[in-house]
Amino acid sequence: MCGIIGCAARRDVADLILGGLRQLEYRGYDSAGLAVIRDGSLVVVRREGRIDNLAGQVKASGVDGHTGIGHTRWATHGAPSEKNAHPHSDGSGNLAVIHNGIIENHEVLRERLKAKGHVFHSETDSEVFPHLVQEHQKTHDLLDAVRLAIQEVRGTYAFVVIDRTQPGRIVGARRDSPLVVGLGKGENYLASDVSALLALTRDVVYLANGDVVELTPDRVRVLDENGADKPLQISRVEWDAEAAAKGGYRHYMLKEIDEQPAVVAKTLQRHLDESSGKARFVLPDAAALEPWLANVDRISITACGTSWHAGLVGKFLIEKRAGIPVDVDYASEFRYRDAVLSKNHLVLAISQSGETLDTLAAIREARARGAKVLSIVNVQGSSLVRDSDGVVLTDAGPEIGVASTKAFTTQLVALQVLSWVLARARGRLDREREAKAVEDLRVLRFKLEECLSRGEEVAKAAELFARAQDFLFLGRGVNYPVALEGALKLKEISYIHAEGYPAGEMKHGPIALIDANMPVVVVATPGRVHEKVLSNMQEVKARGGRIVAVAAADDAAVRKIADFVLPVPVVDEDLSPIVNVVPLQRLAYWVADLRGCDIDKPRNLAKSVTVE
Ligand code: M6R
Repeated sequence: MCGIIGCAARRDVADLILGGLRQLEYRGYDSAGLAVIRDGSLVVVRREGRIDNLAGQVKASGVDGHTGIGHTRWATHGAPSEKNAHPHSDGSGNLAVIHNGIIENHEVLRERLKAKGHVFHSETDSEVFPHLVQEHQKTHDLLDAVRLAIQEVRGTYAFVVIDRTQPGRIVGARRDSPLVVGLGKGENYLASDVSALLALTRDVVYLANGDVVELTPDRVRVLDENGADKPLQISRVEWDAEAAAKGGYRHYMLKEIDEQPAVVAKTLQRHLDESSGKARFVLPDAAALEPWLANVDRISITACGTSWHAGLVGKFLIEKRAGIPVDVDYASEFRYRDAVLSKNHLVLAISQSGETLDTLAAIREARARGAKVLSIVNVQGSSLVRDSDGVVLTDAGPEIGVASTKAFTTQLVALQVLSWVLARARGRLDREREAKAVEDLRVLRFKLEECLSRGEEVAKAAELFARAQDFLFLGRGVNYPVALEGALKLKEISYIHAEGYPAGEMKHGPIALIDANMPVVVVATPGRVHEKVLSNMQEVKARGGRIVAVAAADDAAVRKIADFVLPVPVVDEDLSPIVNVVPLQRLAYWVADLRGCDIDKPRNLAKSVTVE
């Protein structure tokens, strides 16, 4: 939530900051702002709404300078207005501050500062911070003033501060909100995530919780929470600028849907060891944890949104293959429900961004209570990677569309691998079966390509049903989470009310909703509950419902009942969620497009949810 960028350079940086903000816009798009220092003056431009509004104003006014910061906001405290847009300033007008996170004790701080004569202009929690820094600057240098100010703040933050009287200098600090340093030639940067920096550099330093950083064009200095200098740990980002670009597509979401064959194959490849001739599943980024996995006797999966849906698929796979009991919790619930954690308990977190605060809070709680944490994560260097005992990295690449697509299918591949590794650790997987499992997964890329080549049916179904007000999505077994995911995709980008349900549960309530106006999307691919699903479809038909079925192209039984079929290639049932979700992602996309929705930036949402 909220995107942050800062740059200290020897050239004008307004364009660079606007470019970075465009890459970060998926983090929030309620308002945007920029501040630059030029000839000893601080110029601040803020606009309600999208970056385009800000860019128009920056261009028209010719604002520029060598030191600058920019912010794109996802509103928490205070309406999405210009007055509440960042950067915020202090009373002296010397400071400009951008913030991502929530200052929980902002009211107490505000009252205290007011009593000292400070005047506030916004409804935000963030505005107290420049005033706090200003107070400390009466006796301290900017860097120390920021260090002292963060000690008074309770909550989460990534702050970036510039001071009109100190051009060429930027100070940043983070706790539980991401902040990464980018290293350039004769210029240095700060940003919420690497996607904003890819056009500038791939050499980065991930800041740890409690770190404070000082940037000039030539120097980066990082201090730990005790104020001691830290050596710079420079990482090279694997992603490139092209991966984060739209590449000729109308929307990131469509590009990301189409990337799925390649990223699914890449994620699998990362987890195969082919050194001995026969490929074996490996967890290269959890090597230290792997021997211990044989002891695991219980697994709690914790995640949010789409990643939680992947977790539900994981439960099916792990219980079936490894025979380990698994429960799946929303991260926001897990943290507060006093889960019973035993000695051999593995907590498995799943997250695209690795920055979702609910998920981070859940695993921190679990680790504090002695559990080991393994995380499936897409973003290297993210907080979840740093805070876990081991990770299973997905290779989705940058996912910019707010609606998650390729992250989901690569998470499912990671869960396939993990379930087999756990099965092997418990003596339930022999070499022959493992080789077959590897082959089945390798073929998936081609099945996905085949699936993506069948676009017309989805587009037709979208046209037929785009004006519906409600949708019901049904699935059973390992495809029940796919029904949930199909419903989530549709509601978040088209704003149509949609519910996902286990098909067998429909008769216990939702069946009352069925009529000719509410399309019922059923995942009805071959598998052990196929006949049951056919019966559930009959129940819908008997009540006048209209059915869109995701099914094998030649499934005559489904065709007989369904009004519309979205054909998918046949794969093993346990792999089928990876294929079956694709037409549902596309259905949501085309329906949203027909309804004129802003697909990559749906209202009220943000890509990475860094507040609780
Ligand atoms: O980055 P994460 O995977 O932790 O994000 C979790 C959810 O916020 C995310 O999946 C969200 O539900 C997406 N908008 C779904 O499309």
